[in-house]
Amino acid sequence: MRVAEAVERAAGRLSAARLASPRVDAELLAAYVLGIPRGRLATAERFTSAQAKRYAALIEQRATRVPLQHLTGKAPFRYLELDVGPGVFVPRPETEVLVEWGLRWLRAIREASPPPRSFLAGTSARDCAFLVVDLCAGSGAIAASVATEARDTTVYAVEREPDALKWLRRNVLGLGVTVVEGDATDPDVLSELDGQVDLVLCNPPYVPEIGAAGLPAEVTRHDPSVAVFGGTDGLDVIRPLIGRFATLLRPGGAVAVEHEDVHAYVVPTLVHVDGRFVDVEVHHDLAQRPRFTTARRAGEP
Ligand SMILES: C[S@@+](CC[C@H](N)C(=O)[O-])C[C@H]1O[C@@H](n2cnc3c(N)ncnc32)[C@H](O)[C@@H]1O
Repeated sequence: MRVAEAVERAAGRLSAARLASPRVDAELLAAYVLGIPRGRLATAERFTSAQAKRYAALIEQRATRVPLQHLTGKAPFRYLELDVGPGVFVPRPETEVLVEWGLRWLRAIREASPPPRSFLAGTSARDCAFLVVDLCAGSGAIAASVATEARDTTVYAVEREPDALKWLRRNVLGLGVTVVEGDATDPDVLSELDGQVDLVLCNPPYVPEIGAAGLPAEVTRHDPSVAVFGGTDGLDVIRPLIGRFATLLRPGGAVAVEHEDVHAYVVPTLVHVDGRFVDVEVHHDLAQRPRFTTARRAGEP
């Protein structure tokens, strides 16, 4: 079967199923079946009959709202392709912006002063590094990006859910990231780093349960609910995390925490009210929605 024809038909099928980007999904799945990048699709002439059959099956699965990333097993995130599937939250483009903020912050302090200090000499492959903690790590999108894009970092990733931990361990393999199994809100988890961390990055579950009805089936049926929902008002995990940010960070250290756009007032207010932060700011995502709050731990570095 001709590839162009199959893609055309698949895009129509996905459009009828009311997907947001039917053509892109049809092309990405065709490229996946052919084992080529999407940009080379125009050069592909025909599917073998086995490929055509596989493609049709994948399109049907996508039409029933199985996430594209679960079908291909991969989720692009910044410069990485992460392994994803059932049991782990599919990383989103808005979180790339949070990571970008964190990397810029590291760059700024790197330029302003020499590397911070020898961190736990002998316990890390890099003995002179910025200490970065990813709380609620999921697939490891944040931790793996920091570890690969800022080589002078020692990165810890905390995740509580056993299913997500499997993907996390797989995605950070060989990157020198320390995976910690535990509740990110528990003061005992990573307490050995209290007062020493340069940067905390965090994308916790934050969708209010009352907002579940408005979510697409890809999220409600396929993202783990513990990864998405933060209790009735969405703040059940963020509230106790704010205290953890304050105790983990060294004076002058920074935090960036992702949140729901409707929490663009309440999250910075909670951070202010904690009393241990300065420079509290809200930042926007690529769609110009207020998406994450940053702050610096009070005190002289
Ligand atoms: C929104 S997902 C974010 C995953 C990843 N950081 C990302 O940006 O794609 C939230 C993650 O936090 C985990 N999680 C939820 N509550 C937690 C807690 N109290 N402690 C540690 N991890 C938690 C969930 O299992 C899920 O993997």
